[in-house]
Amino acid sequence: MSSPVVPAASPRVSPLDAVSLRADFPILSEEVNGHRLVYLDSAATSQKPTAVLDAERDFLTHANSAVHRGAHTLAAEATDLFEDARAAVAGFVGAQPEQLVWTSGATAGLNLVAYAIGNATLGRGAPASAPYALTPGDEIVTTAIEHHANLIPWQELAARTGAVLRHIPARADGTLDLDAAASIIGERTRIVAFTHVSNVLGIVNPVAEIVALAQAVGATTVLDACQSAPHLPLDLPALGVDLAVFSGHKMLGPYAIGGLYGRAEVLDALPPFLTGGSMITTVTLDHAEYLPAPQKFEAGTQAVGPAIGLAAAVRYLQDVGPENIHAHEVALAERMGAGLREIPGVRLLGDAPGAERVGLWSFDVTGVHAHDAGQFLDAQGIAVRVGHHCAAPLHRQFGMTASVRASTALYNTEDDVDLFLDAVRGIRGFFGVTDAAEGAHA
Ligand code: ALA
Repeated sequence: MSSPVVPAASPRVSPLDAVSLRADFPILSEEVNGHRLVYLDSAATSQKPTAVLDAERDFLTHANSAVHRGAHTLAAEATDLFEDARAAVAGFVGAQPEQLVWTSGATAGLNLVAYAIGNATLGRGAPASAPYALTPGDEIVTTAIEHHANLIPWQELAARTGAVLRHIPARADGTLDLDAAASIIGERTRIVAFTHVSNVLGIVNPVAEIVALAQAVGATTVLDACQSAPHLPLDLPALGVDLAVFSGHKMLGPYAIGGLYGRAEVLDALPPFLTGGSMITTVTLDHAEYLPAPQKFEAGTQAVGPAIGLAAAVRYLQDVGPENIHAHEVALAERMGAGLREIPGVRLLGDAPGAERVGLWSFDVTGVHAHDAGQFLDAQGIAVRVGHHCAAPLHRQFGMTASVRASTALYNTEDDVDLFLDAVRGIRGFFGVTDAAEGAHA
């Protein structure tokens, strides 16, 4: 295949001007509960610029057809657009097109990897897949800060294969304990799966150090890049990971599309997970031969419109400039963190001094349940996530079942942060919680 098709880096807003960018996102003009929308829930799902909405609609209006199947003009055009989209999205993460498998999102990508390794364990794809086969007692290492999508597929794989789960612990400040990691990752370790950026803590994890520990013992590394792909420059081959996943809807793209990146030799060696049409060369009643990666992992009809929408999203991100986006969000995170620290009763999760961050803070308001705090903010048009954010074990470590999370994207402004901070200042008063009342209940 040809080299990645990525627009030349030509940041049109430098430094990033979020106020003018907002005009590209129609939903940001909505009023919610009589207030202008302050959208601080981009870690759950991002908003979509007009360019993404138009790309999907244009495809469906002018070129919709089955890809890699038909011989007619529209089918050829749809196939070209679909493969151009693959090249654009692969290029955005520094990869070649054949290193990018379409999935429905990060969860699907992680399950694909776990089931492919399970199939290798059953002997499927041998001899190429044999190095990935697990034997009872082999170890799968994740971390204590993962969201459920990067925990449960490994729990299931361990249950199916007799492998043992181990976890790199987090320190009280939310950073990963690399000393512990160095003793946990050992000669029985076969897989190390970890998140680039925690969806609860916003801390950027030390990928290079963890990859080095894994490589020293020949373990396969799997990176969850959901919370990094839309927020900072991302070059997956340079990070040295074997496999990585990300979700389109968190990076300005449509739902039900995402990517699995893999080093060529890893994708070539792993057997498929889902099987059926579009991933085969020859089929008899008893046997099938498979196409090479990435098609080997793309059985059935793909999400063509969403893939084209995701390509428009990464072109938009590229146009603004990942460095600009990161700098903008770091500034927002600093403003938000400084403001939250000064509010009595607010406890930040993962407030590690000097940690590299994205624009995300989770916190607890003493004496007020996270859901009540979230409703209070919502009444003022401020959208945050409340609950365990699909990371129940991490909340348990912090001694809580739920927190409030505010998460930014490139379209958030200082004004958004200030409106949010003003509202948070009012939470305890609204619910009648004072330090004295809190003490009386203690
Ligand atoms: N990753 C999803 C979130 O953080 C679950 O909201």
